[in-house]
Amino acid sequence: MTYVVTEDCIRCKYLDCVEVCPVDCFYEGEVMLVIHPDECIDCGVCVPECPVDAIKADTESGLEKWLELNAEYASRWPNITINRDAPPDADEYVGVKEKYQKFFSDKPGEGD
Ligand code: SF4
Ligand code: F3S
Repeated sequence: MTYVVTEDCIRCKYLDCVEVCPVDCFYEGEVMLVIHPDECIDCGVCVPECPVDAIKADTESGLEKWLELNAEYASRWPNITINRDAPPDADEYVGVKEKYQKFFSDKPGEGD
């Protein structure tokens, strides 16, 4: 199994998750993060750090699309290990529906 970042991260990108990961397996896109499924050691410590509960175990049902997306973009986006400020308008996107359709971007983030 692995943990995956899901839709609720999009345009929230609070980044509270990255610093607790013992194996530094978060990767940064323009509007969300992903977890590298082959690097994640399934410790689960990042899960309670996310204020919008965007990190899920891939054993939960219905997450196939997100597992695929995490795997694909973890190999294309830069690694991120240090918590920066969230986007200034992050709070406006909490709980918004269909964020993938409306806002997903395949562009890389800054990384560190
Ligand atoms: Fe990192 Fe553990 Fe979260 Fe996997 S479950 S991304 S290893 S903190
Ligand atoms: Fe995204 Fe939550 Fe981390 S919003 S950047 S998964 S703290």
